[in-house]
Amino acid sequence: MPQYEKILLKNMEQPGYAGSLAEYEQTGGYQALRKVLKDMQPDQVIEEVKTSSLRGRGGAGFPTGVKWGFIPKDHPGPIYLCCNADESEPGTFKDRQLMERDPHQMLEGMIITCFAIGAETAYIYIRGEFRLGARILEKAIHEANAAGYLGENILGSGRTIKIYVHAGAGAYICGEETALLESLEGKRGMPRFKPPFPATHGLYQKPTVVNNVETMANIPHIINRGGAWFAGIGSPPKSCGTRVFCLSGHVKRPGNYEVPMGIPFREFIYEIGGGMRSDKPIKAFIPGGASAPFLTPEHLDVKMDFESVALAGSMLGSGGVTVMEEGTSMVWAALRLMEFFYHESCGKCTPCREGSSWMTQILQRIWDKRGRDGDLDMLDELCKNIAGRTVCAFGEAEVGPVQSTLKHFRHEYEALIREAEAAMPRGKEIPVLTN
Ligand SMILES: Cc1cc2nc3c(=O)[nH]c(=O)nc-3n(C[C@H](O)[C@H](O)[C@H](O)COP(=O)(O)O)c2cc1C
Repeated sequence: MPQYEKILLKNMEQPGYAGSLAEYEQTGGYQALRKVLKDMQPDQVIEEVKTSSLRGRGGAGFPTGVKWGFIPKDHPGPIYLCCNADESEPGTFKDRQLMERDPHQMLEGMIITCFAIGAETAYIYIRGEFRLGARILEKAIHEANAAGYLGENILGSGRTIKIYVHAGAGAYICGEETALLESLEGKRGMPRFKPPFPATHGLYQKPTVVNNVETMANIPHIINRGGAWFAGIGSPPKSCGTRVFCLSGHVKRPGNYEVPMGIPFREFIYEIGGGMRSDKPIKAFIPGGASAPFLTPEHLDVKMDFESVALAGSMLGSGGVTVMEEGTSMVWAALRLMEFFYHESCGKCTPCREGSSWMTQILQRIWDKRGRDGDLDMLDELCKNIAGRTVCAFGEAEVGPVQSTLKHFRHEYEALIREAEAAMPRGKEIPVLTN
């Protein structure tokens, strides 16, 4: 297996490392915070992160330093940081490991971010099901408070920074940054129109930065080793650093693996993941979480970076790589994913709320061999009427699996519909599924 330098998973892969404050300090933990408080101004921290070219690890890949730079200077009222720990995308499970196994790494990143943007209060919005993670973070916050890294007058700097853990109630949409803010304010988790963006009108309509757990975990390393060092890793100039990719599906060694961005999927799946579990050929894979369109074996040499995956017609998204072997029905796979999106649609936008229900019903009847002529055209039409017509990117997310399986595996849909037509004499009424 190829060996790459680990940055984020380094500590936790040491035998016996349990993520306590003392252990984190022994590995150089909180040195970056000391450096920032002693030697740097907030603007210098933002510049260093811009130099690193770090892009958000939550899905959209927005440049982190640029986002921080949007926070108004000298704002008279409060400024907030929200760490997005909702991680509900099927096939994505890296933030959970980063929080549970090395919580201080992410906390140090959050404290430095607060310093850079001028926030005194930060929230960790954690997925409701991550009870263990929430307890671990509470304990780590308590330790950091007691050691003077958090709270009032941190390390004698005169700065006050407080971090609170807020557990969600288990809704995928609350990972979308504006729905997260609504939920944090105690309202129903539904996305807001953008603009205005959270940088000016975020939590309680105050300037707010929302950043993913993995994004935060990178910050102490960028400060310690310099933005230029980080920018030299991976696939410069646009996809720098490592990424913790989550490997799942029909592979021999599923799990989280940290690799430099830009290695080919073939190396990741076959060398790092050990290849297919039953040695059957690969049929398809999702490159970046359930909302990323499927790719096929001809894309195995595509590089795992933002631009290359976009050029191949998909997205690197949340970093969840799910692999499917020959023999898997892609109609079935699209149906399972669509059921998830239908269940999780928050209902705010009609195209998403109604369209996800229609698409699930059509896919179900095709899979049950009750499909009809015209079903595929209707699926195409529905996809076009959902994507781009919703308040948030959920619309694009939910059509990805259907559009990409229709593109690469249309013959599988057609075969099921032909079987249905052969079994059902023409003119006879075909039952329609209702929900
Ligand atoms: C439907 C939906 C769900 C999302 N879920 C998550 C999530 O669970 N975690 C996350 O970090 N970002 C999620 N995002 C992306 C966030 O809206 C936002 O871009 C991200 O938290 C910003 O952090 P980053 O710049 O560090 O990536 C989701 C977006 C959408 C549209």
